[in-house]
Amino acid sequence: MRKTVMPVAGLGTRFLPATKAQAKEMMTVVDRPLIQYAVEEAVAAGSEKVILVSAPGKAAILDHFRVNSALESTLAASGKEVLLEAVRSVGRMAEVSAVMQGAPLGVGHAILQAKEAVGNDVFGVAFPDDLILAEVPVLEQLRRVQERYGGMVIAVEEVPAEQVDRYGVIDGEHVADGIYRVNRLVEKPPVDQAPSTLGIVGRYVFAPAIFDSIERTGAGAGGEIQITDAIQAALPTMPCHAVAFAGERYDCGSRLGFVQATIAVARRDPGLAGPLAEFLAGR
Ligand code: UTP
Repeated sequence: MRKTVMPVAGLGTRFLPATKAQAKEMMTVVDRPLIQYAVEEAVAAGSEKVILVSAPGKAAILDHFRVNSALESTLAASGKEVLLEAVRSVGRMAEVSAVMQGAPLGVGHAILQAKEAVGNDVFGVAFPDDLILAEVPVLEQLRRVQERYGGMVIAVEEVPAEQVDRYGVIDGEHVADGIYRVNRLVEKPPVDQAPSTLGIVGRYVFAPAIFDSIERTGAGAGGEIQITDAIQAALPTMPCHAVAFAGERYDCGSRLGFVQATIAVARRDPGLAGPLAEFLAGR
């Protein structure tokens, strides 16, 4: 799994007006934009190449991974070595490139735009607005399951029963610790018709055959081309396993999730944890 696709072409409507002129994926949790957390995770799972699926007006996302010579010279001249290294390391992490999605027709359609760039390899997919803190990167947890079972692998977590209509939901059979064989998937089912409370979150591992399935998939929930429908359509020819991963996920596309992610990341930062605890305790 040397390549990871990251769709970043969405409109981010749940976070307006913040996302009016700024990409959601560039919103900052403590000191890094969301996209950087996702790229760091992909690299930790062995990815050498990251393919962004981007849109006009979102050039800042790719720029974040390009060399900024003027900034580097200024930092070097003023002896700011730590900051200089922080800036340089972002550019060295992985080979980051971008393909464009002409219109935000859904995450399935976004992933399809990376077909040529992916070629014939098994590849990962990560949605940067799902920030996941985990000892073993979630993409790595999925990669290991893909190595064992082949086919498609998706990340799931238990979600509150009254919120299943916000997720893709699986009907699966428990086959090993935290691993389900998927029999059926439904995107945003009504609460009383959901097959389970295992909701899909934004991490996947696919074989290139998924692209053929997306090409045959029409618009689904919300009028968008959904990856969940493409996985469902591919099930007869390719197994799919779901991993109830170890880690904490924050939906940074929502206001509450974003605030929670900020607090969770700050709590893990030795320089912030103490003062933050005091602040939250009301002192
Ligand atoms: P979301 O559905 O969470 O993002 O997609 P959104 O559509 O931007 O947000 P809301 O619902 O309007 O608030 C998950 C990821 O897929 C990307 C988004 O940029 C996000 O990173 N995406 C979504 C695309 O690249 N293209 C699309 O057509 C839709």
